[in-house]
Amino acid sequence: MSYRLSEDLEMLRRTVAKMAEARVAPRAAEIDEQDAYPWDLKELFAEQGLLGAGVPEAYGGTGVGLPAVCLIVEEIARVSASASLIVAAQELGLMPILVGGSEEQKQKYLPVLASGEQICAFGLTEPNAGSDAGSVKTRAVRQGDVYILNGQKCFITNGGIADVYTIFASTDPSKGLKGLSAFIVEKDYPGFSAGKKEKKMGIRGSQTTELILENCPVPAENLLGKEGDGFKIAMMTLDRTRPVIGAQAVGIAQGALDYAVNYARERVQFGKPIASFQGIQFMLADMVTRIEAARQLVYKAAFLIEEAVQNGTSPAEISRFSSMAKLFASDVAMQVTVDAVQVLGGYGYMREYPLERMMRDAKITQIYEGTNQIQRLVIARTLLD
Ligand code: CAA
Repeated sequence: MSYRLSEDLEMLRRTVAKMAEARVAPRAAEIDEQDAYPWDLKELFAEQGLLGAGVPEAYGGTGVGLPAVCLIVEEIARVSASASLIVAAQELGLMPILVGGSEEQKQKYLPVLASGEQICAFGLTEPNAGSDAGSVKTRAVRQGDVYILNGQKCFITNGGIADVYTIFASTDPSKGLKGLSAFIVEKDYPGFSAGKKEKKMGIRGSQTTELILENCPVPAENLLGKEGDGFKIAMMTLDRTRPVIGAQAVGIAQGALDYAVNYARERVQFGKPIASFQGIQFMLADMVTRIEAARQLVYKAAFLIEEAVQNGTSPAEISRFSSMAKLFASDVAMQVTVDAVQVLGGYGYMREYPLERMMRDAKITQIYEGTNQIQRLVIARTLLD
């Protein structure tokens, strides 16, 4: 299958790029420096309908689908990875409801999330359940009309600022990962709170915290699917959102390349712009080639997944392409940002220039939504199983 962006999608790309240049770029360094969640940009993205791009029109979204979400995230990430995470994390947070929710749950939660009136978060990871997501220890015990949740989550994007969380907890520890269940938890439920706020290397301004559940009663109607469906819902969610992280990585890399090319044209050494030296030209050529290859893979994955969602199918290829897109694009983002810093030499290392920020931001794309070692494992399994 090949893909081609429709005129509508090309127009969306241009519109978002223009908005990102005008409204996000001037805030990027400040967001990183202050490490404060950019509420103004969340409002801007909500007004522009960007938070509901992945939500069908029937549930209040714009219904433009996964390739559009990727375009939005890519173009914002070109100037600020932290700001692009506002869109990516919303997509991740609402996806379990989209893939596992009942009609009532979708009607109740998706419209307020698509409009950006409320923010959401995905609560899977725990101190001892990272790559081994199936070993979640948070416990959910049914008591009449509610489940009582106890446990602790960590590294949760949007922790403490989200209104709605999907929390993965075990309803039957004897069944291991087949005993995991997914619950919609609202921020005001008793016993639910955000813990320590993390100080991070990059994506500063995006808030990452622990979550604490202490005898937290969650209405039984907030269970997504059936008891035991939790792990499958988590994996189906990540299959659909990992290409978005790939798109974020492509955006970060493109931003770094653009800056390095302009700099190489202007920086004069030995009496000539450094862009005239083959050593620099070869680096720039490798960077643009890798970025374009990553972009093709990300959009191939996004179109493949969108097509499967529209047709109601779930081919095994989804996991393979989703993981390949995230793996390849994030490795490219890391290589390209390191090389872009090198093109600027000493200036690249200084905080006055944006490249060291882009390099710090690129690193997380190799880690979150599954480390790249896990992506390789998923890809290899699709070949061998
Ligand atoms: N879709 C549907 N079902 C799936 C699936 C998928 N993609 N992948 C697995 N399953 C099912 C399997 O079919 C299997 O069920 P059956 O036994 O009935 O066939 C069951 O789930 C167990 O699967 P595995 O045996 O493959 O499970 P595993 O324990 O070996 O590991 C893993 C799977 C791929 C390593 C998985 O644990 C994983 O992806 N780990 C990484 C977790 C991750 O990405 N964490 C990121 C957290 S989110 C985050 O970072 C967000 C943030 O805040 C920004």
